[in-house]
Amino acid sequence: MKILVCGKGGSGKSTVTAMVAKSMAKRGYNVLVVDSDESNFGLHRQLGLGMPEDFTNYLGGKKALGEKMMQAFQKGDPISIFENKWQISDIPKAYAVEKGNIKMMAIGKIHNFGEGCACPMGALAKNLLKNMETTSEEMIFVDTEAGIEHFGRGVEEGCDLVLMILDPSYESVRLSEKIIELVEKAGKPLYFILNRADEIGIQLMKDAVDETHILASIPSSLEVFRAGFAGEELNIELPEIESISDFLVSGISS
Ligand SMILES: Nc1ncnc2c1ncn2[C@@H]1O[C@H](COP(=O)(O)OP(=O)(O)O)[C@@H](O)[C@H]1O
Ligand SMILES: [Mg+2]
Repeated sequence: MKILVCGKGGSGKSTVTAMVAKSMAKRGYNVLVVDSDESNFGLHRQLGLGMPEDFTNYLGGKKALGEKMMQAFQKGDPISIFENKWQISDIPKAYAVEKGNIKMMAIGKIHNFGEGCACPMGALAKNLLKNMETTSEEMIFVDTEAGIEHFGRGVEEGCDLVLMILDPSYESVRLSEKIIELVEKAGKPLYFILNRADEIGIQLMKDAVDETHILASIPSSLEVFRAGFAGEELNIELPEIESISDFLVSGISS
């Protein structure tokens, strides 16, 4: 199963992705976490891993990829980067970091001032995910950049399920309206995770989204905050994260 995690900046996408990925790995699944956020440099630390090399380099770098895209665009061809289907085990070792049954790769980061937009990364993320195949013992999580640009790039096309993380804010609720519309158009199932919400926050968000599609409400946790602030591995077990994993497992077996 391939899962896209989205939401506004700071809502907890990377935190929840790392914790659910760890929980699934503990349950024995082979997990791949794809960091598709070109501006976040902390996900590998939350997973307790080193920083992987940008996957864009596998294809000759961002510039070469951008040129390939431009040529395809001029010819009116679809942008096709991979010829064959890939399994998690096909990710070249140089572009993955791993520990036990959890692996992480990063599509690419913006490293330098003026190096151009992130469109080639979006095209690569989309192509990679469409190309990846998972077995019933494997799970891929894609941690996206804030907002909805990845929907514009069509990254969700290769995913089986979209998870939106909502924090109790005006921006999250407004963004959820847009995401509901976009995910419906893409024909993908959409579920919500409420994060850092107290009782009132939970009630307000339940009024904004389909309550039956809320998988969990994760409370604000001092332990999570401290580990996040220190850039430490998230070795924290929360019952709400286990509920999300239970749901994903039931989705795989059904
Ligand atoms: N449930 C939580 N309790 C406490 N702190 C949290 C919680 N979820 C996220 N955080 C903190 O909020 C900040 C933003 O989280 P992050 O996962 O980086 O958001 P995003 O990836 O959506 O930008 C981080 O400092 C993280 O440690
Ligand atoms: Mg993030």
